[in-house]
Formats: sequence, structure tokens, C-alpha cells
Amino acid sequence: MKYINFDFAIDESFDINSYEQIALRAFTDLHIKRTGKMSGWLECEKLLKDTEKKQMFKIVKEVKKEADVLVVIGIGGSYLGAKAAIDFLSDYYKFEEGLEVIFVGNSLSEKYLIDTAKYLENKNFYINVISKSGGTLEPAIAFRYFKDMVEKKYKSEAKKHIIITTSKNSGSLRKISIREGYRTLFIPDNIGGRYSVLTPVGLFPIACAGFDVEKILEGAKETKEEVDSVSYRKNPAMQYAVIRNVLYKQGKDIEVYSTFNPNMRQFLEWLKQLFGESECKNFAGIFPASLILSTDLHSMGQLMQQGKRNIFETFINANRENVKNNLYLEKDKNDLDNLNFVTHKNINEINKIARLATMKAHREGKVPIIDISFEKQDEKTLGAMFYFFEYSCAISAYILGVNPFNQPGVEAYKKNIKEILNKK
Ligand code: PA5
Repeated sequence: MKYINFDFAIDESFDINSYEQIALRAFTDLHIKRTGKMSGWLECEKLLKDTEKKQMFKIVKEVKKEADVLVVIGIGGSYLGAKAAIDFLSDYYKFEEGLEVIFVGNSLSEKYLIDTAKYLENKNFYINVISKSGGTLEPAIAFRYFKDMVEKKYKSEAKKHIIITTSKNSGSLRKISIREGYRTLFIPDNIGGRYSVLTPVGLFPIACAGFDVEKILEGAKETKEEVDSVSYRKNPAMQYAVIRNVLYKQGKDIEVYSTFNPNMRQFLEWLKQLFGESECKNFAGIFPASLILSTDLHSMGQLMQQGKRNIFETFINANRENVKNNLYLEKDKNDLDNLNFVTHKNINEINKIARLATMKAHREGKVPIIDISFEKQDEKTLGAMFYFFEYSCAISAYILGVNPFNQPGVEAYKKNIKEILNKK
């Protein structure tokens, strides 16, 4: 594929082509038989109408000009994509002046709320509360708390500092936004939370952080065109879905996402939610886990190499992180640390070798390996990856025989928490 390289190493007897019919049945489910109600994300290029885009960019411009911090309030699909994108595209430290994007409302930690308020005390900030249902407790609590802070701080100007992202037609947040006259961006009704990163849910915070969301959409669109037009035998998005299910049937019920790029930690969190919530139903499904390497080789490496063989590992890596210059170690005349032997390779190459060495070791330890890599950590690649995995995930869930677009388990906890709180 244009942005994504795909490879795998599993048993020699495995023949990917023999699963074509299974993949095609899932394809038919996704595109024809069961498409409709929640498949809006498949049309990634049409998600934002021009007028909506214009309105969104106008607010982005204002927020970037006026604020030091954008506080994004949301949980699950209403924050993971934006956080993943911003981390993926940013430098590890903030070197330049400019808007900072922070995330709250994804926990009920009292200290976190208090500390965030303290952090914001002397800063100029806007809040963007994101909830499709408009009724999720964690963001609702954070919203009420920060709304109060905004009203006290900005008084008659307060309204300007609150941007809502929610459903057009339902939910308390929509009611609030109409009543208070807050500026509102909409989440299409036919897109669920974890498939919504390419709507204002993800695009607004990502654009505020200074990244080119048009390029993200372009990368997604190009990938959509690719997965739509190539046959199963040349289609990594479908093949990835098939391989996961074949391995699951062989008893590999844990998928470990591994990356050697620490700034992909959040992307793996996004993946865990996407696959975990879409697939794990009816007391079945693959448990998604993640490792950040080399760090976790020194904590979970033992398990990966010699633990119970119910795992497979999907490596997701940039072949090169965004750096301007190659970093080499200098030769040392005494060489007491015996490191002169690595001075001919830059650190990125050494990181890549660490990846190959790990793959080899885990494969020798009988862990099936899937390798998904890409050349750059830029906007187009990111858009491609969002679409690739959403597509694969939906196909994979249909192969497994579950509806990828509901999350009855999550709803159950949401209902319980409110019921318990309502009891006298
Ligand atoms: O994928 C999903 O639908 C969920 O993870 C939701 O995004 C999450 O529960 C938050 O819901 P809401 O946006 O309605 O507050």
C-alpha cells in the first residue's frame, strides 16, 4: 500500500489465499448486507461538508490566536484518536510557543481535576467538550467543573471559550448547546465514537494543535481508494483481519501491539479501544494489549519469549521517526564501554535492528508475528493508518460474527454508575 507496509511470519503451512471466501463474506457484510446505520466512517472523504469545515477552521484560527491551552473533555472514542494523533505528530517536548492541547474528563480523579484547574489558573484557555451521547458521566462532571471556571474567569466572554462537539439531534449536551448558544461541531449520527477520529471529534483538537487535518483526510481517502479497489490477495487491510481470526481459532486470544516508537503509545491505546470494543462480545474475542519497546522488553520480554503461547504480536512502527539529522555516537579512543562497534550506524538504524532482533527472538519463541510499518510519521500516513485499522477492524469483527459498531458492555457500566449514584 502507498503508506503502509504489511508482512507476517506465522506457520509455514499457513496459506493466506485459502481464506479469500471468508474475507469476501465479511466484505459483503460491511459494504452491502449490513451497511448503513453505523458505516458513515467508510465515506471518510465526505464526512465534513464544506460549510462545516469552514466553520471549524474559523474556530481553530481563533483558538490558536487567543488561547495558550485547549482543554479537551471527552472519554473513549471522544478523545483517544485526537490524543493518538497529536502525540504521533508532535516532538517529544514542546520546543515552540503555541497552543497546548490537554485532555480531561477521561477519569474521575479528583486530584487530576484540581491540578488541571490549578495549571490553567494563569493561562488563557478554551474548552472543547466532546460527547456523542452527551450523557457520559466522566466528561459531564469535568464539563460542569470547567464551565464554572470559565464563567468565573471570562464572565460575559465565557460563551466564546466553550466549544461543543456532539450529536446534532439528541442528548443533554445538544440541549445545553442550544440553550446557551455555544458554538457546536457535529458528530454524524451514523458514526460511532471509536470510528469518529476523522470527524470534528478528532479533527478539531488536532487542527488546534497545529497539524494539517486536510492531509490526514487525504491519507485516509487514498487508503480507502486502495482498499476498495484491490482484490483480497493484494489487500493487507483484509489480510490482517483474516490472520487475526485464523490465529484466534488456533487459541491465540491475546494480540500484543508492539512499537519501538514511544510517541505511538497513544496510537496503540486507540487501537486497543477500536478492536476491544468492536470485537469482544458474546464472551469471545481477542484481548488487545500493548508494549512500548525497548522499555517493555525489560518487563514483559520474558513473558513474550517464554510465557503461555496464547499470544500473537503485531509490530507497528515508523521506519524513521521525524528527525532532521541522523544521530551517530562519536568514536571514543579508549572504548572502555565497548561501544565503538555501533558508531557506524545511526540510532534510528540501531532501533530498527533492535526491532528485527526482537521479531526474530519472538518468532523463535513461537509467537506469530504481524509487521505493519510505514516510512514517515506525518499527517498523510496517520490518516492512512486510521482508515486502515478501522476498515480491518470492521472486517475482522464480521469474520468473527459480531456487530463491530455497538458496545453493550460499555453501556452496562454507564447505566450502573448512574443507578448507584441515584440510590438514596
Ligand atoms: O466507541 C464508543 O462509542 C465509545 O467508546 C464512546 O466513544 C465512549 O463511551 C464515549 O461516549 P460519548 O462520546 O457518548 O460520551
